[in-house]
Amino acid sequence: MKKLIRIFAIALVAAVTTHAQLPLNPKVEQKIDSLIAKMTLDEKAGQLSQYSGGMDDNSPESPEKSNYEMMVKEGKVGSFLNVHGVKITHELQRIAVEESRMKIPIIFGLDVIHGYRTVFPIPLAEASSWNPDLVEHDASIAAREASADGIQWTFAPMVDIARDPRWGRIAEGSGEDPYLGSVMAAARVRGFQGENFDQPKNREAFDSATTILACAKHFAAYGAAEGGRDYNTVDISERTLREVYLPPFHAAVKAGAGTLMSSFNEIAGVPSSANRHLMTGILRNEWGFNGFVVSDWTAITELHLHGISADDAQSAALAINAGVDMDMEGSLYLKYLPMLVKEGKISESVVNEAVRRVLRMKFKLGLFDDPYRYGDSKREKAETLSAPFIAAALNAARQSIVLLKNDSNVLPLKKSIKTLAVIGPLANDAYDLLGPWRGLGDSSNVVTALQGIKKAVSQKTKIIYARGCDILGNSKAGFNDALAAAKKSDAVILVVGESAAMSGEASSRSSLDLPGVQEELVKAISETGKPVVLVLMNGRPLSISWEAEHVPAIVESWFLGVQTGNALADVLFGNYNPSGKLPVTFPRTVGQVPIYYDHKNTGRPANDTVKYTSRYIDLPSTPLFPFGYGLSYTKFEYSGLRLNAEKIFPTDSISVSVDVKNAGARDGEEVAQLYIRDEYGSVTRPVEELKGFKKIFLKKGETKTVSFLLTPESLSMLNINMKKVVEPGVFKVFAGTNSVDVKEASFEVVAK
Ligand code: GLC
Repeated sequence: MKKLIRIFAIALVAAVTTHAQLPLNPKVEQKIDSLIAKMTLDEKAGQLSQYSGGMDDNSPESPEKSNYEMMVKEGKVGSFLNVHGVKITHELQRIAVEESRMKIPIIFGLDVIHGYRTVFPIPLAEASSWNPDLVEHDASIAAREASADGIQWTFAPMVDIARDPRWGRIAEGSGEDPYLGSVMAAARVRGFQGENFDQPKNREAFDSATTILACAKHFAAYGAAEGGRDYNTVDISERTLREVYLPPFHAAVKAGAGTLMSSFNEIAGVPSSANRHLMTGILRNEWGFNGFVVSDWTAITELHLHGISADDAQSAALAINAGVDMDMEGSLYLKYLPMLVKEGKISESVVNEAVRRVLRMKFKLGLFDDPYRYGDSKREKAETLSAPFIAAALNAARQSIVLLKNDSNVLPLKKSIKTLAVIGPLANDAYDLLGPWRGLGDSSNVVTALQGIKKAVSQKTKIIYARGCDILGNSKAGFNDALAAAKKSDAVILVVGESAAMSGEASSRSSLDLPGVQEELVKAISETGKPVVLVLMNGRPLSISWEAEHVPAIVESWFLGVQTGNALADVLFGNYNPSGKLPVTFPRTVGQVPIYYDHKNTGRPANDTVKYTSRYIDLPSTPLFPFGYGLSYTKFEYSGLRLNAEKIFPTDSISVSVDVKNAGARDGEEVAQLYIRDEYGSVTRPVEELKGFKKIFLKKGETKTVSFLLTPESLSMLNINMKKVVEPGVFKVFAGTNSVDVKEASFEVVAK
C-alpha cells in the first residue's frame, strides 16, 4: 500500500510540475528516492563535489591519480572536470560503479566552448553569423567529438550579455543584445543536448551517447562587472537584471538546459553563489528549472573573500541553502555539509534536494543504464576532425566574418593578382586564431591566413610574407622587411589583432587599441600608398578609429578556428560574399564605454550640435561601427515597410513586412533586422530593441518580402511595479540592414 501511495505521490508531483522546464519521469524520481534513502551524509556530500582531475589517457600513474581513485571508491566524487579519454574515464567509472558502496556513476565535464578538437570560431564570432541553425549544428559536432572521448557535460553555452569590451570574456558570449543572446543560447543548448532532451516522457535518458549536458553560465550578470574588470562588482537594478542579463539564461532553461553555473560576481551586494533569490526564487520557483547548478571554480570558497561569510562552513551553508547544488573544486561541501546537518545548521532535506537534482541529470545521461555509454574509440577515430566536421568549421568561419569597410571595392581581390604582400604578426599564426577556451584544439589542425591565401591565388601570383612586428612589444625591427614587401606588391593584406590570451577569463584590457606597435605598422604600410586590406583577429571590439578612416578595406575575422585561412581566402578573393553582422558595438575609443545600441534616451539625448546634451565634447556621440552592422559585396535595398494594423490591443500580435532587394551585381546573404521602440511607458524604455531577424539569400536583382510577427511577448516590458505587461501607447518599428540604417513605421497599442 505504502509503495502505491508513493507512486501516486510521485505521479502527482510529476503532474504538478509538468510546467517544470523538464517534465519529471516518475520512475526516475522513484529510483532517486530509494538511492537517497540508502546514502550516508558523507556520500550525499560526495555526490555534490566536483574535482579538476587534469588527467587523460596518457597520464602516468601518480600519487594524485591514486588519491582520486581512492576518493571515487569512498564515494567522495560526484563529478570530475578536465578528465578526458575513453580509457581513464571508463577506469574511474568502473571504480565508481563496481567498488564504491552506492555504485553511483560519475559525470565527466569539460569546457567545450566552441569545439572540442574541430575548433569553430569563438562564440562572439559565431554570433556574427546571426545564424542559429549554424550555431546549433556546430555545437552538435562539438558534442559528438567530446562524447566520443568520454565527456558527458560541457560548461557551455556562456550566455553572459556584455556591454563592456574591456571584459575579456566578451569573446565567449553572443554580444550585447538580450534577444540575439537568447536565440544563440537556445541554439547552443539544442546543439549540445540534442533536440529531444526535454521530451523524456517515456524514456529516462538521451537517445544516444553523442550529445552532452549543457551548462548555461555564468548565472548571473557576470558581464556587468564594473570597469569591464573580470570578477569585479556588479551593481544593477532588478529591472536591468531581468530585462538585459537574465533573458538568455531563461531561453537556455526553456530550451531544456540540464545545468547552470553560478557566477563569481556579486549582484548588488549578494554574490551569486549565495543568492537564493536568483538560484531558487527566479531559477526554480519562477522558471521551474529542475536540473542542477554547479558553482564556478571555488566560487563557494570565495564567499568568504566577498565578505558575506565568516568562514568556509558558513560559505557552504549559504551556498547549499541558496540552491547551488555542486561545489566545483572547493571541497567545502564534502568537508562541511555532514557536520552542518548534524549540528542542525542546515536541513538534510536541502542536501537531499541537491542530490536529487544531480542524480536526475545522471539518469538523463543514461549513466545508470550504462555507465560506459560515453567514450567510443571507434567513433572517435571515425568522426573526429572528419571532412564533414571540417566543412562545418569552414562554413561557420565564412559566415562569422564581418566586412567593416570596402572603399572603391578594393575587395574582393583578384586571384590573378601579380604580387601580393601578406604582412602582420597574425598572418601566419596557427595558435592565437584558435582563441580562448579552445578545448583540445591543436595548431597542427589549423589553416593559417597565409596558407589559405597561398592556396587561393593563381600559380603565377608572387606572395611576399613579412611578420612586421609582434602582437605585443615595441620592437619595430621587422618594419623594414614589411615595408619592402609592401613596396614590391600590387596590394597588401595586413593581418593584425590580439593574442588569444588577451581574451577569455582574467583577460580584461584597459585599452581597446591594437596592442604593441601594430597601429604604427598599419600607418607605415598605409604610407606606401598601396591598396591595403586590414584583417583583424581579436576577441573584442577594437577602437580602430585611425584605421577606419585611412585604410580602404577592413575585415573583422575574430578568432575563426581551424579553418581560418580558407574562410578568409574565400572572402578576400570573392568565393564567398561576406554576410556577418556585428553582435556588439565598436566604440571610437575606450572612453566611450559603455556604449551600446539599446540605450536610454535620457532627458537630453546626445546631439553633437547642441552643447547641453548627453555627449563628450571631444568626439562624436556615435560609435565607430554600430550593432548589427556589416557590409556585403553587393547592395541590399529596403522598401515597403508595412504593418497589418494601425492599432492593436495589448493581447494582439502585429505582423510587419519589408521588401529587401539585392540591387548589386552579386548574389549574397543579408540579415534583415527588426527593432522596436516603446515610445512612452510607466518607466523609460530603450531607444531601440532587437525583436527579430532573418538571414536570407538573394540572387542579384532578386527581391524578397521578409515578414516578422510582433507578439505580446515582443512588446512586453516590466512596468513601474515590475509586472510584465504590454502598455498602451505608440510603438515605433524599424527594419533594416543594421541598427542605424532602417526604415521606420509605427502603430499604437490601445487599452481594451
Ligand atoms: C573557470 C570559468 C568557467 C569554467 C570553469 C571550469 O573559472 O569561470 O567559465 O567553466 O572555471 O573550467
